[in-house]
Amino acid sequence: MDQSSQTSRVLSGMRPTGRLHLGHYHGVLKNWIELQHQHECFFFVADWHALTTHYDDPSLIPTSIWDMVIDWLAAGVDHKSSTLFVQSLVPEHAELHLLLSMITPLGWLERVPSYKDQQEKLKEKDLATYGFLGYPLLQSADILIYRAAHVPVGEDQVAHVELTREIARRFNHIYGREPGFEEKAEAARKKMGKKAAKQFDQLRRAYQEQGDTEALATGHELLEKQQNISVDERERLLGYLEGSGRLILTEPQPLLTKASKMPGLDGQKMSKSYANTLSLREDLTDVENMIKRMPTDTNRVRRNDPGDPDKCPVWQFHQVYSDESTKQWVQEGCRSAGIGCLDCKGPVIEAVVAELKPIQTRAAEFEAQPELVRQIIREGSERARDVARETMREVRQSMSLDLS
Ligand code: TRP
Ligand code: SF4
Repeated sequence: MDQSSQTSRVLSGMRPTGRLHLGHYHGVLKNWIELQHQHECFFFVADWHALTTHYDDPSLIPTSIWDMVIDWLAAGVDHKSSTLFVQSLVPEHAELHLLLSMITPLGWLERVPSYKDQQEKLKEKDLATYGFLGYPLLQSADILIYRAAHVPVGEDQVAHVELTREIARRFNHIYGREPGFEEKAEAARKKMGKKAAKQFDQLRRAYQEQGDTEALATGHELLEKQQNISVDERERLLGYLEGSGRLILTEPQPLLTKASKMPGLDGQKMSKSYANTLSLREDLTDVENMIKRMPTDTNRVRRNDPGDPDKCPVWQFHQVYSDESTKQWVQEGCRSAGIGCLDCKGPVIEAVVAELKPIQTRAAEFEAQPELVRQIIREGSERARDVARETMREVRQSMSLDLS
C-alpha cells in the first residue's frame, strides 16, 4: 500500500443479517473487494446497530455475525488486505458515541430521514427508544473513530455520512481551539523546513484572504507529504490552514455505491423480505432448479409464442452475467420464438453456478475452521482498537478528560 492510502482510509459496516445473497455480493462485497487493493480498509459487523431494532430478541445475533463473516471471507474480502472486526469488540465506539452525544442537538437526529421512515416501516416494533434515535450518531462514532476519509454506502445511508460531517465540524469547532493553538501551529510549520514552511504560508494566505480553494487542496497535499511532523502537528496545521481550530476529527466523504443491478428471482430487487434471493451458499442443484422455475414473459405461454425480454426477469440476469453475443442470441431468439425459455436460462444457470462454486469452496473451508474465523476477527478487532484508542486519546485530551 502506498503512503497516500494512509490518508484515504475507507470504513464501512454491515448489520449482522446472517447468510448473504447475490444482491449483497453484487451490491456491496464486490465493491469492498476492489477497494481493499486501493486503500487501507476497515470493514466491520455493526452488531450494536442490530440491537437498536432487535433489542427484544438478540439471541440470533451471534450466529448471524459468524455466518456473515464467513460469507465476506468466502466472497474474497481478504483479512490480510483489510481489517475485519466486530463493533462490540471495540468498546471505544461506545465511548466516542457518548462523548459526541453531549454536543449533538436533538433536532439533528430527529430530522435524519431514516428515523421516521423506519419507525413507520417497522410499526410492530416499539422504536421510540433512546438507542434508536441515537443510531445515526453511533454510526458517526463508528466512522470518526477511524478518521475515515471515505465511507462506501448505498443511497439510504448518505444522510448518515452527512450528519457525521456536521458532527465532526461541530466537534472541531468546539474543541479544536486549544490554548496556545497559534504558537503550536507556528512551531509545527517551522518544523517542516524552510521551503515547505514558506509554501504553506503562501497557500494559507491565498486561501484565507482570497478564498482560493485550489490553494487549500495544494496545502492538504503539502501536509500529507511531510515526514517530519507528528499526527498531532499535521492536524493542527490542517486547522491552521483552514482558519479553524485544530482538526481533531476528519470529515468523511460518502463513496456512493452504484445501486446493485442484481435482480431477484422474480425481477424485483433481490431482498430477503421479498423471498426472491439466491444465497451465496445455496446448494447448486437448488440454484439450478430455482432458476428453472423463474417466471418469464407471461406472453410466452406456448413454446412458439414470441416474447419480449424487457418483460422478463431472466433477461435482467443476462444483463448481469452474459456477453454481447449471448445477449443478442436472447433478444433474437425470444422475439422470434427461436429459443425456448429453458434454453434461454441455460447460460444464466451456468454463469451463476460458475460464480458461486469458488465462493462455496472457500465458505466450506471456513465453516470447517470456526476457530480460524474467530481468530481473524479477534486480530482484526485488536488492530482496529489500536487506531480507535489513539483517536480517543486525542478526543479525551481535547475535551479536558485526560486525567492521567
Ligand atoms: N447503518 C448501516 C446500515 O444499516 C451500517 C453501518 C453502521 C455503517 N455503522 C456504519 C455503514 C458505518 C457505514 C459506516 O447499513
Ligand atoms: Fe425470458 Fe428468455 Fe423466455 Fe424471453 S426466452 S421470455 S428472455 S426466459
